[in-house]
Amino acid sequence: METNLTKQNIQFHDLHATRSDFLGDVLSGLRKRPASIPPKYFYDAKGSQLFDAITELPEYYPTRTEIGILNANAAEIARHVGTGSLLVEPGGGSCAKVHILLEGLQPCAYVPMDISKDHLRLAAKELAAAYPWLEIHAACTDFTQQMEMPPSAPGGTRVAFFPGSSIGNFKPQDAIVFLNSIAELVGTGGYLLIGVDLKKDRAILQAAYDDAAGITAQFNLNLLAHINRELNADFDLETWQHKALYNESKGRIEMHLISRREQTVTVDGQSFHFSQGEGIHTENSYKYTVDEFNALAAQAGFQSDACWLDDNSLFSVHLYRVQGG
Ligand code: TRP
Repeated sequence: METNLTKQNIQFHDLHATRSDFLGDVLSGLRKRPASIPPKYFYDAKGSQLFDAITELPEYYPTRTEIGILNANAAEIARHVGTGSLLVEPGGGSCAKVHILLEGLQPCAYVPMDISKDHLRLAAKELAAAYPWLEIHAACTDFTQQMEMPPSAPGGTRVAFFPGSSIGNFKPQDAIVFLNSIAELVGTGGYLLIGVDLKKDRAILQAAYDDAAGITAQFNLNLLAHINRELNADFDLETWQHKALYNESKGRIEMHLISRREQTVTVDGQSFHFSQGEGIHTENSYKYTVDEFNALAAQAGFQSDACWLDDNSLFSVHLYRVQGG
């Protein structure tokens, strides 16, 4: 492990995340029928930029709604949790929402964890400059593989922050396993503050993942450009079409890339045949009612402490506590 002090109030920790196997994951996903590609590969530099643009689209309500809920309830969140806690954010590479909580929570330290090292470094430095009183331990790690506190982080009630309805991108069974690892990280009496998108009218949901300006389509298609560039592949982006649909029985938005014609694609010398209309499944975004998510969190050892919604019940922010053993 490498630890270096670059500024008075930041430490960077390289927790040596297991390297992910882009080629192996893509080849095995394309061999499956229906074919699929893991969504983590959306986020090359262009993908991250497009994702930032998605969060500002008129149709994409989750980001602004969640920020509104956090702003409206920051003081109450702080009353529940108290001050002096150790605030940890798995996937918090952009440190974008945590500032809403900092004044109220006055944490003893903030620990953003992210796989994307450069992104994390930059954001943590900016946050450190804006909050000179805040001790930051930025940990470069794949939080889905390894959830470990940097050894030099101070003690205090641990509070995990997991916004953005990123939990919706896990299948429910995987979400329970992931939440359980958060429960272990924060320990008995520790908290989880998590943003979860709510079930609602199909038209609102589908528009959020299929915007009129076509940014989400570009984001989805960029996955193929990323594969072409890094894995010696020849996807012709013109022959693939973005599709987003709400699968109501499964309670999830699904994103697919649909082949506009019969074709063969080559990736690293291996051929994959697609008939016209055949798809590659690229992302799920599960939606939950408040009760459904409480039941899921309970299976991971969390008890509901509080839950806040916006006035239109579009989005939920839950506060959970790990039950005593
Ligand atoms: N977790 C968010 C969601 O499901 C953000 C997200 C992940 C997303 N992948 C996406 C948004 C693809 C749009 C398109 O909404």
